[in-house]
Amino acid sequence: MNAPSVSPQTPVQVAIASNVLDGTAPDALNTETMQATHALDALDAARSALLDWQQGAHSRLTEVQAALAAAQSALDVTRAELVQVKRERDQWRDECTHHSDAVSQLTAKVVGQQNQIEAQNNQIQAQQGHIESQHGELQDKQAEIEAHKAQIEQHKAEIEQHKAQLAHQSDHNRRMHQELLELYRDLRATDLPSLILRVGMNLTGAENSMFVNAAGDQTLAAVGLDDLPETSKQALYEYTRKAAQSEEPVVCNDEQSLPDGPKLINLAAMPVAVQGNLRGVIIVANKRSGPFTDQDTEVLLSIGKHAGMAMENHRLHQALNEAYSSTIAVLADAIEAKDPYTRGHCENVASIAVKVAERLGLQAEEIDQVRYAALLHDIGKIGIPDGILLKPSRLLPEEFQVIQRHSSIGSDLVSRVNSLVPIAPTIKHHHERFDGTGYPDGLSGDAILLASRIVGVVDAFDAMTTPRPYREPVAKEEALAELRRCAGAQFDPTVVEAVAAIVNEAPGL
Ligand SMILES: [Fe+2]
Repeated sequence: MNAPSVSPQTPVQVAIASNVLDGTAPDALNTETMQATHALDALDAARSALLDWQQGAHSRLTEVQAALAAAQSALDVTRAELVQVKRERDQWRDECTHHSDAVSQLTAKVVGQQNQIEAQNNQIQAQQGHIESQHGELQDKQAEIEAHKAQIEQHKAEIEQHKAQLAHQSDHNRRMHQELLELYRDLRATDLPSLILRVGMNLTGAENSMFVNAAGDQTLAAVGLDDLPETSKQALYEYTRKAAQSEEPVVCNDEQSLPDGPKLINLAAMPVAVQGNLRGVIIVANKRSGPFTDQDTEVLLSIGKHAGMAMENHRLHQALNEAYSSTIAVLADAIEAKDPYTRGHCENVASIAVKVAERLGLQAEEIDQVRYAALLHDIGKIGIPDGILLKPSRLLPEEFQVIQRHSSIGSDLVSRVNSLVPIAPTIKHHHERFDGTGYPDGLSGDAILLASRIVGVVDAFDAMTTPRPYREPVAKEEALAELRRCAGAQFDPTVVEAVAAIVNEAPGL
């Protein structure tokens, strides 16, 4: 606000003031001057007042300005504070907005997750329902599986039982097969019926057995009957007659119906037939492990069939052997008829050669071949002219060459008889020497058949120890000494020692 001016600096004021001062102003003018003076005075007063007011106003203005400045300052502070507050508010608002957005996002997320959870929960519930349904089905399946398992276990047990039965049957069949093989293998057995009974007892577990002929009046073999009372034996005969009459197996497991229990608790009688012809009856008794079963009956039936065939084979074998022996005996007689000076020589050689073969561990069949070869070793002499064979004086070299042919002639002769073919090589080489200087082939050592080496040594020993027209017999000790002297050259040392051992053990040879 601007204050009024009170300074006399204006032109009017200057003029008035000038006129007054110089006393030239008219009255009017004086009046007016007076008035003007008064006015000026008033004006001065006013101006003074104005100045005062102006000063006051100025002071007040200053105060106001100061107040305004202070207010302005305060206002600025307030404004600054407001700005700060506003900024903070804006910041807070932004933060709130941010937080709100975050909260909204989180809320949205939570809602989304809740929705997912609900959806998953629904799925889980659905799956749970499905699982419960499947669980029910599984329980049903499990029950079926358990039922199947029980059936499988039952089948398994049945299979194991069958396997055990089969194993038992297989073992039984194997044993029976082996026993029957022994039966056939041992056709040379002199007591075949006893062998058959042992087979039957082994396979059935019976303690006693008997083999009677078809008529029931002859006991062919008996095993373990010595301890049975006579009444028990009579009961066994009775049942063999029943089996013979019916030609069927007869089994009795009733101890009460048998005499002498517990000496006799059970029995089984089996007819033995060959080509439909009854040959006898086998009876086994006292199976302590239990009653005779159908399996035992089958075993005994099988044994009956095989036993019949074995007996028939045995009979045929014996007949063949007899024919074989007869043939050899005839041929041996022919040798002795041709050369009466060697009478008994072949039998002696065969007897000692068999003992040597046994001592050296040869098999039964090989021993037989040694026996037959020894009997016929000089059969070739049949083909030697009497003038040379029976010449009482010393042989000329060419005559000795003829004599040497007898081993090959003998081998050729026996080769024409099928049953004698196996002994032909033994005959051919019975004059080979251990050092290879013998005849006909000059074989040496182990190349010479052992049977030939045996016959050669024993032939020489018997020739030395039996008389000849042209010399006296040599003592056995001297003959053994000669054999030992020639051991390794003419004779096999092992065979020589075997002959010496046999002669020393049996001085009567
Ligand atoms: Fe000879």
